Parts: sequence; C-alpha cells; structure tokens
Amino acid sequence: MRHLLDRHILFFGGKGGVGKTTSAAAFSLAASRAGRRVLLVSTDPAHSTSDVFEAGIGPVEREILPGLWGLELDAAREARRYVDEAKARMSGLFGPAVLAEAARQIELTASMPGVADLAIFDRMSDLVLSRAGAYDLVAFDTAPTGHALQMLRMPDRLSAWVAALAARRRQGLEAAALASPASARGERPADPVLGILEARQARLEALRRELARGERVAFVLVLIPERLPIEESVRAAHDLAEAGIAMGGLVVNRVLPAEASGAYYEARKAQERVYLEEIARRMPSAPRATVPQLESDVHGIAGLERVAACLLAESAPRG
Ligand SMILES: Nc1ncnc2c1ncn2[C@@H]1O[C@H](COP(=O)(O)OP(=O)(O)OP(=O)(O)O)[C@@H](O)[C@H]1O
Ligand SMILES: [Mg+2]
Repeated sequence: MRHLLDRHILFFGGKGGVGKTTSAAAFSLAASRAGRRVLLVSTDPAHSTSDVFEAGIGPVEREILPGLWGLELDAAREARRYVDEAKARMSGLFGPAVLAEAARQIELTASMPGVADLAIFDRMSDLVLSRAGAYDLVAFDTAPTGHALQMLRMPDRLSAWVAALAARRRQGLEAAALASPASARGERPADPVLGILEARQARLEALRRELARGERVAFVLVLIPERLPIEESVRAAHDLAEAGIAMGGLVVNRVLPAEASGAYYEARKAQERVYLEEIARRMPSAPRATVPQLESDVHGIAGLERVAACLLAESAPRG
C-alpha cells in the first residue's frame, strides 16, 4: 500500500469487525511518520480510534501525535447541527408564521432515521471539499462497507433529487412571473430558495468530481480470508467501479502466521489458502497487503507499528 502514501483522501471500508479501524489507524500513523500531516476521521459510532491510540479523540480535530490529528464524528451531534443549519438558512426566507410551522416540521424530521446519515455525509463532504486543504491526507475510518459505499454514492442520488426540486421551483417561478409586469420587461428577481438548491447541487457535483480523482482519492477494502467478507469485497469493488471511485487496494487481515503449527492450524491454513487464492483470482488487479493474525488485539502505538509495517511491505506475489 506504499503507493497510497501520496494520496490526499483515503476511505477504509469493509465488513464489521474485519480491521477497518486498525488499518486506518496504522496507515495514518505510518503516513504521519513519513512526514505528512494526517487527519484520521472516524465515522464509526463505537469510536474505536480513541481506543486504539489510547487517547481521547472527540468531535473537534485534535493533534494526538506529531503530524497526526484525530476526529470522531458523532451522529447525534452532527444531526443536531444539520437541523440547526437548515433552520438558520430558512429564517431569512419566510415570514414568522411559515417559519414557525417549517421549524416544527424540521424538528420532527430531526429524529427520523436517515437524518444522522445525511448529516454525517454532509460533514464528510465538508471535510473532503473544504478541510482537506489543511492536511496532506484525510483518512476516513468508515462504518461497515455497505454503509460507506452508500454514502459515497450519495452525490449521484441526492444530486438527481435536488435537481428535480430545483426544476419544480423554476417552473413555479416562471408561472408566477408570467402574471407579473416585471417579467414583461424581462426582469427576473433572484429567488433565495432556488439559490439554495442550486448551491447544493453545485456542491454535490464538486464532491462527485473530487471523489472521481483517482490520483488523489482511493478506497481501501479491508477483509479477512473468509467467505462472506470476500463476497462483500467483490461486490464493493464492483460498486466502487460503478461510482467511479478508485480502489486503492485490499488489506487481507488476520492471516494465520507461518509459525502457527499443529494439526488444528494446518487444517485452518489449508482452508485459508483456498480463500487467499480466491481473493487473488477474483480481485486480481487490486494491490494487496497481508496482515497476520497477531497474538493479541491491536492497542497502542507498538501494535499499530506492526500492522503499519505489513501495510507498507511490498505486496505479496500473485496467487
Ligand atoms: N491482525 C490482527 N491481529 C489481532 N487482532 C486484530 C487484528 N486486526 C484487528 N484486530 C482486533 O480485532 C478487533 C476488530 O478490529 P477493528 O476494530 O479494527 O475492526 P473494524 O472493522 O473497525 O470493526 P467495526 O466494524 O466494529 O468498526 C479489534 O479488537 C482489533 O484490535
Ligand atoms: Mg471500526
């Protein structure tokens, strides 16, 4: 994965529990040691980055080691911020009566499922588009794959939806304008609602373009040599290709070490070989890093250094 050291934005995704947080943390540590200014962002509700680094990381960017900053996004807090911003944006647009009703509706929406995702997505977009310039690398430790990928595909989906809203707004405005004397003189007053929708759409478009810049942005798939994670990774690789996001490589985690011996381990290793071959066969073009099953959980700098060394090692020969 050495080739990823010069990327600007990396997403680490994969099935639950396969080692996303461990890989993202280890890679971020390695990149910061290589002299890059790194921001590690966790969108995972369990906030395990604090655990791995044995440091208090919270909702504000904070330097945890030289050159390495941490940030843990909190869904409830982001949802609150998102809703407050929506209310603030509206306050300039409508009269008090409409505003009170709209604010009530927005408050009701705030607790609906999906709003936290939207809010996290909004914050991630912001980090990608506006904060990334303050760092050399922003690494996202994402929630399990399906979720992370859905987020990354949001620009396309939301963009279509926002475009449809804007089109309806434009139609409405045109109908109203036909009836007004100003339109006879070709004047078109600026519409604030349309302005907001168009700004939204421009932002989504900018995000989509940014995510498609393969020389800057990549998605790293973390998996373990077992059936379900392999299936999920193959699907994810396909989805990434479809979304136009570069696949940076595969981290094959928890591979039994050569020194594990005895009948039990020999049998496990034989099974594992089948899966390792399958990974190589089904995702042949992806650069691969192999991380062995360590004797204990990965906590603290020493453990992360061991994982980082594996991530940066020359990738194993094919097959
Ligand atoms: N190679 C390894 N050897 C030993 N333990 C490991 C290894 N990789 C990860 N672990 C341990 O496995 C557990 C899960 O790893 P991690 O938290 O990185 O997974 P995750 O994909 O982020 O999980 P989640 O989906 O819950 O966010 C952790 O306790 C971690 O320390
Ligand atoms: Mg995690």
